[in-house]
Amino acid sequence: PRTAAPATEPAYRPVDRPRRLRATPALRRLVAETRVAPADLVLPMFVREAATEPVPIGSMPGVVQHTTDTLRRAAVEAAEAGVGGVMLFGVPATRDATGTCATDEDGVLNAGLRALVAEVGDAVVVMSDLCLDEFTDHGHCGVLDAAGRVDNDATLVRYQEMALAQAATGAHVLGLSGMMDGQVGAVREVLEGAGYTDTAILAYSAKYASAFYGPFREAVDSQLRGDRKTYQMDVANRREGLREATLDLAEGADVVMVKPALAYLDVLAEVAALSEVPVAAYQVSGEYAMVEAAAAQGWLDRRRTIEETVLSIRRAGADVVLTYWATELARWLR
Ligand code: PBG
Repeated sequence: PRTAAPATEPAYRPVDRPRRLRATPALRRLVAETRVAPADLVLPMFVREAATEPVPIGSMPGVVQHTTDTLRRAAVEAAEAGVGGVMLFGVPATRDATGTCATDEDGVLNAGLRALVAEVGDAVVVMSDLCLDEFTDHGHCGVLDAAGRVDNDATLVRYQEMALAQAATGAHVLGLSGMMDGQVGAVREVLEGAGYTDTAILAYSAKYASAFYGPFREAVDSQLRGDRKTYQMDVANRREGLREATLDLAEGADVVMVKPALAYLDVLAEVAALSEVPVAAYQVSGEYAMVEAAAAQGWLDRRRTIEETVLSIRRAGADVVLTYWATELARWLR
C-alpha cells in the first residue's frame, strides 16, 4: 500500500499547542472557564397602567409594556425557564413634578410588584426599579429645585418613601437606579428603621450617561428633554466608577451593578475585582436593539450573538446579568 509522503518537513515546531484543548466539543465544554446558567439571569419587565392589551415597544422588538395579566404570565414563563429574577418598571398614566404615583401603594409599579410577588414570589427573585424618572412630568430621576436643577437631598427623601412603599409590596430586592449621592445609605437607613431588615438593595453603582438607553425611553414613555449628565456618570471615567461602587458598598449595598454592560466591561472587571458582594451588569435596551436590528437584516446570527454577549459579560466578572433575552436564553441553556 502506498502511503503519502510527508509534504514538506515543517520549518518550525511550536513548543506549546493550546489548540489541543479545542479539538472537540467535549474538550471545549470541559475546559470552558465561564458558564451561563438560567439562574444568573434577570428579566427586566414593564407594566403599563390601565393597559388592556400588551403594547409593543417599537425599538425593542419582542419586548412589550405588559398588562397586569400578561405580566403575571410572562413572569411565570420566566420562572419555568429557570430565570433567577425579574426586575419591574412601571409606566404610569399620569405624571407630576414629584412623581406621586411612585409612592402611591396602588400606583402601577407597587401594584405590579404585589401581583408579581403573589404570582411567583418564591420561584424567582422579584426586584423593583427605585427611581423617579418614569413618574415625573419632567422625566428626571429626582425632584427639581427652584432653578430647575435635580435636587439631590430632596430626592433622597422621595427615594426613602418609595423604598418603604416597595418594601411593603414584598419585593425582595430594590434596584436603586437614580444615581443620587447617598441613595444607598438613605434607603438602607429607612428600611432598617421600619423593620425591613431582609429587603436587599441592588445599587446601580457605576451607571453611565449612555446613548444605549435610547429605546428604554420609549419603553417607559419618558418625558425627558435634555440629558442626565449631572447625575449619571461621564462615559470617560473608569476610576470614578470604582469610587461609586466603593461608596455603595460602604453604605450597605447587597449587590453592586455596572450599566450598560458591553461597552463597560473594563469597569465591570475592576468592580468585580474589588467587590465583597455579588456584582451585576445590565445589558440595556440599546444593546438589545442593536443585535435585534442587525439580526433582522440577516447581518448577525441572532442566537450566537446573544449567547456571546451574555457570556462575555459573565467572563468580565458579572455574577448576575440583566437582559431582555433572559427567558429565551434560559430556554436555550436548558
Ligand atoms: C432609570 C433607568 C433607565 C434604565 C433603567 N433604569 C433609564 C435612564 O437612566 O435613562 C435604562 C435601561 C435600559 O436602557 O434598558 N430609572
